[in-house]
Amino acid sequence: MQQFEFARHRRLRSSEAMRALLKETDITVNDLIYPMFIIEGENIKNEVSSMPGVFQISLDHLANEITEIHQLGIRAVMLFGIPKEKDEEGTGAYAEDGIVQQATRLIKETCPDLLVVADTCLCEYTSHGHCGVIREQEVDNDASLSFIVQTALSQAEAGADIIAPSNMMDGFVKVIRKALDEAGYKEIPIMSYAVKYASAFYGPFRDAADSTPQFGDRKTYQMDPSNRIEAIREAETDVAEGADFIIVKPALAYLDILRDVRNAVNLPVVAYNVSGEYSMIKAAAKNNWIDEKAVVMEKLTAMKRAGAQLILTYFAKDVATWLKE
Ligand code: PBG
Repeated sequence: MQQFEFARHRRLRSSEAMRALLKETDITVNDLIYPMFIIEGENIKNEVSSMPGVFQISLDHLANEITEIHQLGIRAVMLFGIPKEKDEEGTGAYAEDGIVQQATRLIKETCPDLLVVADTCLCEYTSHGHCGVIREQEVDNDASLSFIVQTALSQAEAGADIIAPSNMMDGFVKVIRKALDEAGYKEIPIMSYAVKYASAFYGPFRDAADSTPQFGDRKTYQMDPSNRIEAIREAETDVAEGADFIIVKPALAYLDILRDVRNAVNLPVVAYNVSGEYSMIKAAAKNNWIDEKAVVMEKLTAMKRAGAQLILTYFAKDVATWLKE
């Protein structure tokens, strides 16, 4: 009888068909949420210099853009707004005719079955660029909550399908859930940026959204990248407060956290493949140092493998196009 010498793992990799049969993780268009930057003004389509292929667009270009996204089969977009005027209290975030509110109405008229996820934060609307309001030179948690609630309500009012608070104030899920329920929006889910690190990978986003803090940084409200147990605490709190989805952000340098969170909670987990992660690939691909498509598919696969059910990514349109080819 022949002796067993060693395991023949290559047996299961022998052909394209064999590999397809054994693939454990797949990316489909249903996994993708596309973040968009809507700017107040007319006839604007500004490419963000640090994010090639990503544009700030004005409302008059939105219907065309949305139709294209819809035709690609993408199910959901996340909206960020860039107002003309900013002020201390971030008024543009919760104005009835705020830019995200207008964009939401337009999208729901153009493509009613495309889901609108509204980013609920103040930083694009405050003159100081912080995610809450300032009291005594500090980002005041409890004072900020009422503005966050107003923002969420006005987004729901405009027709947003999902509310996604990203401001990292303690208690935001609880107060938003309560307010939505009382206003009759019991069926609108909350996609909480539960686990959000104070990351240098957000740099290009702050160019795109014009939201760089004018003083200090976000370290008193966003998490320290060194911490792991804290991520579980944040996620568990938001589950208890009524979140329906849990976002982990950034994604690529935080795959361990994604897996930990996946194991700790039973809600759908969303990876936010952030701006800096996008720009690094774009820059390297431009120099022909890497194969863009292969690298993007590999990293999105890694995020799903780590536990993400959904991925927020600026590559969504590219990926949807590649999947159709
Ligand atoms: C706003 C917000 C940020 C991002 C999403 N929502 C920036 C920040 O916290 O400074 C970053 C997204 C990205 O980098 O792609 N609070």
